[in-house]
Amino acid sequence: MRPHHLAALAALPFLVPAVLSAQNANQGGPPLRLDSPFRPPLNFVEQNPAPPIPPDVTDDRRVARNYPEQPPVIPHNVRDYQITLNNNQCLTCHSRRFTEAVQAPMVSITHYVDREGQTLGAVSPRRYFCMQCHVPQTTAQPIVPNMFKDLDTLVSRPSDRGDRP
Ligand code: HEC
Ligand code: HEC
Repeated sequence: MRPHHLAALAALPFLVPAVLSAQNANQGGPPLRLDSPFRPPLNFVEQNPAPPIPPDVTDDRRVARNYPEQPPVIPHNVRDYQITLNNNQCLTCHSRRFTEAVQAPMVSITHYVDREGQTLGAVSPRRYFCMQCHVPQTTAQPIVPNMFKDLDTLVSRPSDRGDRP
């Protein structure tokens, strides 16, 4: 063993109590709020009830994208819309053929482009599984507050934003 390995071993007895006391630290500290989104400090053999599953947002209002390349989120119910080898229920509304009848936005041209950059006559296989990229939203609040600012906000002068006199 090299000398610095031995030195690391020598530190071990001091490290272990430090880890243990960190684990116990919460017991003396202020109790975590029960409505806290983080897991309360339960013993690992105890089970706390799962929080209720929040409902989907299905108000049919299209949501602004945070940046132009973002796959738009889905503003409607997607329950039981199946995607199988022979049938893609999303495309029964979003394909070019059906948008007039149902007034759904058509999938954009990028959905017809294959990985070689060729534009196909039908939706490209790599865009077939819509919910790989497009997701519905729920009313759940983020566990950690979201500080995201879009580019327009970042590049705007403070006077444009109205947060300075
Ligand atoms: C019954 C028709 C129908 C079906 C089926 C359907 N949609 Fe939609 N979709 C719409 C309509 C209409 C809109 C426009 C907003 C609204 O009315 O909800 C929309 C909006 C969207 C949007 C938002 C587009 C934007 O620019 O904001 C996405 C993404 C989307 N749908 C994806 C899907 C996916 C993925 C599926 C399959 C899981 C699907 N849709 C199935 C009719 C449909
Ligand atoms: C690999 C990721 C990916 C998959 C899979 C995918 N999309 Fe998209 N979709 C995007 C992105 C990114 C955009 C926004 C930029 C663009 O149009 O390419 C978009 C845009 C859209 C839009 C808005 C088009 C517009 O012009 O406003 C609709 C509607 C949509 N997709 C529906 C679908 C449906 C339905 C499917 C399944 C058949 C699907 N997408 C599969 C990534 C994806």
